[in-house]
Amino acid sequence: MCDPKDAAARGALSILSELEEPIRVMGVGTGSTVDRFISLLAGSEISEGIEGYVPTSIDTGLKLYSRGLRRVLDSIPVSDKIDVYVDGADEVDPSGNLIKGRGGALLGEKIVAYSSRLNIIIVDESKLVETLGEKKPVPVEVVPRALGYVYRVLESMGLNPRHRSCSCKDGPAVSDNGGILLDLHTGPMKDPRRLDVELHMIPGIVETGLFLGLTDIVVVGSRDCSWRMLRFDRGRR
Ligand code: 5RP
Repeated sequence: MCDPKDAAARGALSILSELEEPIRVMGVGTGSTVDRFISLLAGSEISEGIEGYVPTSIDTGLKLYSRGLRRVLDSIPVSDKIDVYVDGADEVDPSGNLIKGRGGALLGEKIVAYSSRLNIIIVDESKLVETLGEKKPVPVEVVPRALGYVYRVLESMGLNPRHRSCSCKDGPAVSDNGGILLDLHTGPMKDPRRLDVELHMIPGIVETGLFLGLTDIVVVGSRDCSWRMLRFDRGRR
């Protein structure tokens, strides 16, 4: 028996080792599955050729650095695209659309996902769903001064917003960017794309945890230590 997150992380490393093009700049996501990936990467030959890591959160930047992956970049280089991005997810639907942001890093994650040539998502079986919203809420990051207004609008849309509590302080969880994190308890979503557009039209919402049409590969780790790869047709950016 294995931890399926370890199996998914191993799968990602194996896929990376077989890529024909060199990896110079790597985007690194946030969360416990990525944590496993960082540990494996730190001990691998792949890391030797990497010139820079773009972390999606302060947490990931610190983890990369503390495990010896010290070429952590402050931002995405203007002259370079990110060659590969590896991240986890909270839900994955059959088309490779995702809910992300349990760790509150949705804004950094969305920026890196858009800037990367190849997006690899690593998950365990429990993250696979038929319809997004089945198990997990959709996070949104909100500018603090817009919170009251945004909260009321989200309520009136029937999206059941809840502010996320944080165990290290009283009050709502605040992102690395100073935004307030709200979780929308939508239930299974009929039209996530439409919802994403509607949410982006509300002034004060900075970003959503809906990652639609951004996935190239999902690596699914299993308890029997195996992993499998699902491919999606995002097209090269
Ligand atoms: C953080 C994320 C994570 O990638 C997602 O929550 C999955 O985390 P984990 O691997 O710990 O289950 O989106 O913002």
